[in-house]
Amino acid sequence: MTATTTVSTHDIKDLALADEGKRRTEWSERSMPVLRQIRARFAKEKPLKGTKLSACLHVTTETANLMITLRAAGAEIALCASNPLSTQDDVAAHLVRDHGVHVYAIKGEDHETYYGHLQQALAFAPNMTQDDGADLVSALVMISLNRLDDLAPPIRSWVESLSKDERKALVAGVRGSTEETTTGVIRLKAMAKEGVLQFPIIAVNDSDTKHMFDNRYGTGQSTLDGIVRATNLLLAGSTVVIAGYGWCGRGVASRARGAGAHVIVTEVNPLVALEARMDGYEVAPMAEAAPRGDLFITLTGNLHVIRPEHFRAMKDGAIVANSGHFNVELDLDGLGKIAPQRREVRNMVEEYVVEGKRVMVLGEGRLINLAAAEGHPASVMDMSFANQALAAEVLAKDAATMTKSVHRLPPEVDQEIARLKLQSMGIRIDELTAEQVKYLSSWDAGT
Ligand SMILES: NC(=O)c1ccc[n+]([C@@H]2O[C@H](COP(=O)([O-])OP(=O)(O)OC[C@H]3O[C@@H](n4cnc5c(N)ncnc54)[C@H](O)[C@@H]3O)[C@@H](O)[C@H]2O)c1
Repeated sequence: MTATTTVSTHDIKDLALADEGKRRTEWSERSMPVLRQIRARFAKEKPLKGTKLSACLHVTTETANLMITLRAAGAEIALCASNPLSTQDDVAAHLVRDHGVHVYAIKGEDHETYYGHLQQALAFAPNMTQDDGADLVSALVMISLNRLDDLAPPIRSWVESLSKDERKALVAGVRGSTEETTTGVIRLKAMAKEGVLQFPIIAVNDSDTKHMFDNRYGTGQSTLDGIVRATNLLLAGSTVVIAGYGWCGRGVASRARGAGAHVIVTEVNPLVALEARMDGYEVAPMAEAAPRGDLFITLTGNLHVIRPEHFRAMKDGAIVANSGHFNVELDLDGLGKIAPQRREVRNMVEEYVVEGKRVMVLGEGRLINLAAAEGHPASVMDMSFANQALAAEVLAKDAATMTKSVHRLPPEVDQEIARLKLQSMGIRIDELTAEQVKYLSSWDAGT
């Protein structure tokens, strides 16, 4: 048996949804001019010819445009979801039918199926991977360390069926990987620090044209979009508690304030908390904010930010959502213990009763913008996925000479993506004069 024999061509909800997926993917494509330009060049130059790429990303219309771009570059692709609730089934069908992508993703898949789909992406025997949360790379590192007990059961039983040489070949076959999000980059840097990374990583999230825009404006808008779609809540006049004032938290806070909400920020970093205060927000610990909020949103990338003592203190009818990467920011096991009664009161809304008071948890505590809405608008993903496409090209060319650590794309790439984006928006900016260039590079000119 070889590492590839267990691969089926796809596992999706329904191929008949492909027409709708195609229409919606084309709609997103209109707002992705930077990626379109890269695609046109890739189609001529084929920089990914011979690349077998396994991607673990949210299966959305924007991701479809990235996959089509990578196909145009010559890659063969397997795609699985990076979250059980974020898959758009029509998009999955479109990619399988019209672009020959091996998609393994179904919206609402259970834990077992989710990891079964990751296993399929690994069994594709990739020589490059793309992650949003580092799940594929983590599995490959666990395999390389022979820590099979730490693998999810569907992956573990498959790996156990491989010989030692096949396991080695699977990991050694991967030349490099890219990472989309903050949480994934944190995990990957921890692996690099322990010296267990097996290949170079390009942290797409670390590009300025990614986190300054996608995390801030993308998450800012789509998180509130998901919450409003799930609840039909009026933001004006409500008190919104935002946990974490990083790139994502700043975006959500500013949009919530713009919609008329009173915003309270909770933080653990004194500098960031100070910034939130000087940006004009109230800052308080979660214990003080808990009884006051109408809506709570976690965006920290951290564990158990809202715990039973906080749920207990909330007012009747409080709404709680997470938009950080993993569903660990809300301690839902702890909530289950103090609120044995719970029921679904609306799609994506579960009502828990805590000592007579109702607490509404949205989207099972998973990324609410992808669970209850469509994720970020295409216009912002244009820049994130331009970075992904260019990172794949860099890896195809240079992975062999890169260290087994976490890299970022060169600043010139950021500048070029920003320049193309401005151009597509019809915005012109000034250029440095020769005199200014000289002034900025000298030290001897004072007043
Ligand atoms: N929903 C989405 O589509 C989306 C998009 C991009 C990133 N993300 C995810 O959102 C999370 C945040 O990303 P980011 O780029 O804003 O990260 P960031 O590092 O810029 O910000 C996180 C902030 O949370 C704070 N924090 C940590 N623990 C806390 C706690 N217990 N209480 C209060 N604050 C705490 C940190 O001090 C930091 O300021 C990550 O998990 C990231 O992967 C989600």
